[in-house]
Amino acid sequence: MDRETLTAQLRAFRDEALRELAAARGEDALEALDVHYLGRRGGVLSGLMRGIGALPAEDRPAVGAVVNEIRSEVEGALAAARAAARADALAVRLDHEGEDMTAPGRPIARGVPHPIVETVARIAEVFGQFGFVTYEGPEVESDITNFQMLNIPPDHPARDLWDTLYVDLDGGLLRTHTSPGQIRVMHAEQPPIRALLPGRCFRYEAVDASHASEFFQVEGLMVDEGTSMADLRGQLDEFGHAMFGRGRATRFRPGYYPFTEPSVAFDIGCVMCDGSGCPACSRTGWMTILGAGMVHPVVLQYGGIDPERYQGFAFGMGVERIAMLRHGIGDLRLFLENDLRFLEQFR
Ligand code: DAH
Repeated sequence: MDRETLTAQLRAFRDEALRELAAARGEDALEALDVHYLGRRGGVLSGLMRGIGALPAEDRPAVGAVVNEIRSEVEGALAAARAAARADALAVRLDHEGEDMTAPGRPIARGVPHPIVETVARIAEVFGQFGFVTYEGPEVESDITNFQMLNIPPDHPARDLWDTLYVDLDGGLLRTHTSPGQIRVMHAEQPPIRALLPGRCFRYEAVDASHASEFFQVEGLMVDEGTSMADLRGQLDEFGHAMFGRGRATRFRPGYYPFTEPSVAFDIGCVMCDGSGCPACSRTGWMTILGAGMVHPVVLQYGGIDPERYQGFAFGMGVERIAMLRHGIGDLRLFLENDLRFLEQFR
């Protein structure tokens, strides 16, 4: 091997490498060429460089300089080709993945509050203006809290096996009303108390358009010094007007509940006929929307409150009934069926 031959081989190497680099497509191909031509072990250039050792010592520096020059030329071409390949790849991606700003948007499926949720919120809003705070009680209660502490004696029909659903757990039962929440709030708070207790209730019922085995109630409880029937009357009146319209007639009717004394039913003028009498109100002109009364002294005592000092009123209403009257819904079962054709009407 002499100097001229080796130099010629190096130039041939350079020409070939530059040609190949110019023709290569893609970063992978360039990587392969890098290894092939410039790889430290087994690369073409490394092989040629071994020839330097066979040259006379005085020729070596000049050939070494040629090697360096050619190496940096090929490396420069490689770097440029890589940059170009990256730019090409990016351009292709932008072409394929770019957003078409003129494409029509995809509609977002927006939910709406369930009419029961909406009605509870509205009830809480109205009583919130009187200072009532919302609490929650558990769905599984006991005979003691659901009945006994509410002054419901063991032979009361609400305790009938056919009404109450019992659970296999420490004599528990599914609350048949939200009234046990009254006891819980009285245990948790000192008077003055203004509590609202919304929640799901359960009864063993034959399901039809006006009966369900699960339904919602909202309980109200106010306990303070000097609380009277007049407070109850005034606040329910406001409630009736806020929910069913300013001019609507309201009335108290005598009623009976074990946990209130006296007890009343609270009626509003029929929302269908405005009081003249129709099938919806059994021709009475009135619709009952809730039960209420002055908290029985025994119940206050069970709640740990001195009935000599404090008085209270309570009320309980069925949320489905309120929602049905407000929206003209004819069948209770619609609330549980999750039929979007029904639910979407409350948007
Ligand atoms: N708990 C009763 C029911 O489920 C409703 C009720 C009536 C609640 C009168 C009360 C009340 O707080 O004072 O039918």
